[in-house]
Amino acid sequence: MQPANIPVKDRLIVGLDLPDVERAEAMVAKLGDSVNFYKIGYQLAYAGGLPLVRKLADQGKKVFVDLKLHDIGNTVARGVESIARTGATFLTVHAYPQTMKAAVEARAGTDLKILAVTVLTSYDDSDLHAAGYRLGVSDLVEARAQQAQVLGVDGLVCSPEEAASLRKIIGHQMRLVTPGIRPAGTATGDQKRIMTPARAIAAGSDYLVVARPVIEAADPKAVAEAILAEITPPLAA
Ligand code: C5P
Repeated sequence: MQPANIPVKDRLIVGLDLPDVERAEAMVAKLGDSVNFYKIGYQLAYAGGLPLVRKLADQGKKVFVDLKLHDIGNTVARGVESIARTGATFLTVHAYPQTMKAAVEARAGTDLKILAVTVLTSYDDSDLHAAGYRLGVSDLVEARAQQAQVLGVDGLVCSPEEAASLRKIIGHQMRLVTPGIRPAGTATGDQKRIMTPARAIAAGSDYLVVARPVIEAADPKAVAEAILAEITPPLAA
């Protein structure tokens, strides 16, 4: 299967990691037509941000709901059905087989796509060991990626450093969504494994999640446009 034919503008997902809806809506207005895709995570969702998913979808924007669900299958399924009704495009779940199976079944017949988080990027081998796991990070990421593929999960969230090796395992059928992106010359913050936008796309990422470099910039629109310019393929001669 060939790499996904995704419009460049849809490849940048701006994380609305902001404390309230008012500030999130102001950021969306500031970014205007330059950004098509937004991510709403814990901070905004738990501050009354979920209705913004429908509002943005009604404006023609795509929304990634990053709630990393994990519960008994029935509870996951009912949650996925509710999120599907908001018009969201992506929803994250943790990559446990029961959870992924329930989520994939519940999103059938809707436009929602399920992304699995294999191993949180803040975990290293010793964190996994402390949590009772036998496998180290790279083996567990690989095992969970394979399980996700077998279960029909639509994509994976991974660090850009993992993208190339995961691409070899899962082929081009699943989407790879990568945070940890830093345009050259911007602050790294607490992200340890980072890549520039162009390198992440070259490594096999389909979508780049960028929050602080855009939303904390003096001119967020200019930063978003620069990222899009960096990942726009040159016109064929
Ligand atoms: O500000 P920054 O660009 O680092 O934000 C990246 C976004 O991606 C944040 O919303 C963060 O929660 C999310 N994320 C991440 N690493 C993961 C999964 C999600 O940074 N492994």
